[in-house]
Amino acid sequence: MKRWQVTPAARVAGSLRVPGDKSVSHRALMLGGLAVGTTTVEGFLDSEDCLATLAALRAMGVTIERPSAHTVRVEGVGLHGLRGVDRPLDMGNAGTAMRLFMGLLAGQKFDSTLVGDSSLMKRPMERAAGPLRQMGALIETADGKPPVRIRGGRRLHGIDFAMPVASAQVKSAVLLAGLFADGVTRVTEPATTRDHTERMLRGFGVRIERQGATISLPGGQNLRAGQVAVPADFSSAAFFMVAGSIAREGELVLERVGMNPTRNGLLEILRAMGADIRVELVDESGPEPVANLKILPARLRGIAVPRHLVPIAIDEFPVFFIAAASADGVSVLHGAEELRVKESDRLAVMAAGLAALGVEHELLPDGMRIVGRPDGAAFRGGTIDSHGDHRIAMSFAVASLRAAAAITIDDVANVATSFPGFAALANAIGLSIVEAEAATP
Ligand code: S3P
Repeated sequence: MKRWQVTPAARVAGSLRVPGDKSVSHRALMLGGLAVGTTTVEGFLDSEDCLATLAALRAMGVTIERPSAHTVRVEGVGLHGLRGVDRPLDMGNAGTAMRLFMGLLAGQKFDSTLVGDSSLMKRPMERAAGPLRQMGALIETADGKPPVRIRGGRRLHGIDFAMPVASAQVKSAVLLAGLFADGVTRVTEPATTRDHTERMLRGFGVRIERQGATISLPGGQNLRAGQVAVPADFSSAAFFMVAGSIAREGELVLERVGMNPTRNGLLEILRAMGADIRVELVDESGPEPVANLKILPARLRGIAVPRHLVPIAIDEFPVFFIAAASADGVSVLHGAEELRVKESDRLAVMAAGLAALGVEHELLPDGMRIVGRPDGAAFRGGTIDSHGDHRIAMSFAVASLRAAAAITIDDVANVATSFPGFAALANAIGLSIVEAEAATP
């Protein structure tokens, strides 16, 4: 088992570009595979999650070249050019890959089976299977969880789907199935969720419209291959946004960070807490806006997180809790029960970690209440079990900027699912993370 020993640090400084966006990288591979022609993806995230998507597409007959680690060339096979594979497709740790492939495979001529690692095998898949069945798909789950078995040769038809959970993965699964369906597919969101799929489909020449909270897509449209520029991942940048804010000194610059407004809720939350984060060099020329972010240390104040920001900051709450523990006053998060079905139960696992480091907090059914300590150390030293959750591991590494003693973080190998090279990059700007092998408990 991999573990990190993180020694307290006080200063972070420098300029860095975090790796490419995970959500955008998955989608670029999938849409590139379904398109007619060659798609070139620049800034691709070379992480385990995205490589699971890449391997599955290759297994289904898509030629994908990698002239460099961050450049990928996908030879699209067209909407109906994939071929079946007679073994399960392994999605690893990637919930996005599994749910989006469910939509993409529901209208194929062949059968498919999707599996994943021990974390993914516990995650709910009926939220995507349900609407796909309404479209005519034949899908089985095991008590709602993977393996997911998809029967091919079904004729799909468009539906009007009012999504009960605010999930971009479910929305995307239904829209991808909608490409193969007769008629128009409509999805209505209960709250804004990330719209990378809609933006990218438009970039591939697909007619897709939004009216209020409803997105509609006529079926049977061909995708036109092209270029995809992947921004630096806002969710990976988030660790450094909090690091730069809670550090005692230094100045950080994060380059070309994805600034999609359906994704960057943490920026608004941190600014409302008093963070000094400046948005510079905005580039809105592509489908995904990007900007440089300059972050200076600040005395943060506790916050009651506004409900409408919860779905658009959903992956950032582990590191938000670290900011809250370092802030003046009480912070409260409600309406975030979705955190319980991520790569781990992020509410329970973060609460256990905060407890281990002496942070006063209350675990709520749908969130957390945290009492911050703005002066002196916010965290004592101790040992954290990340439960194999990449974002939990990286969040507690950031806590070292306000820790009284060393923090040991167990089970960190899965950081490679979203942010390969995190420890080296963090060390380059002032953190002190040493990786070690530990006996598996
Ligand atoms: C993602 C959507 C979100 C997010 C996940 C990536 C996506 O999941 O948590 O990390 O790429 O569509 P939900 O759709 O389950 O909210």
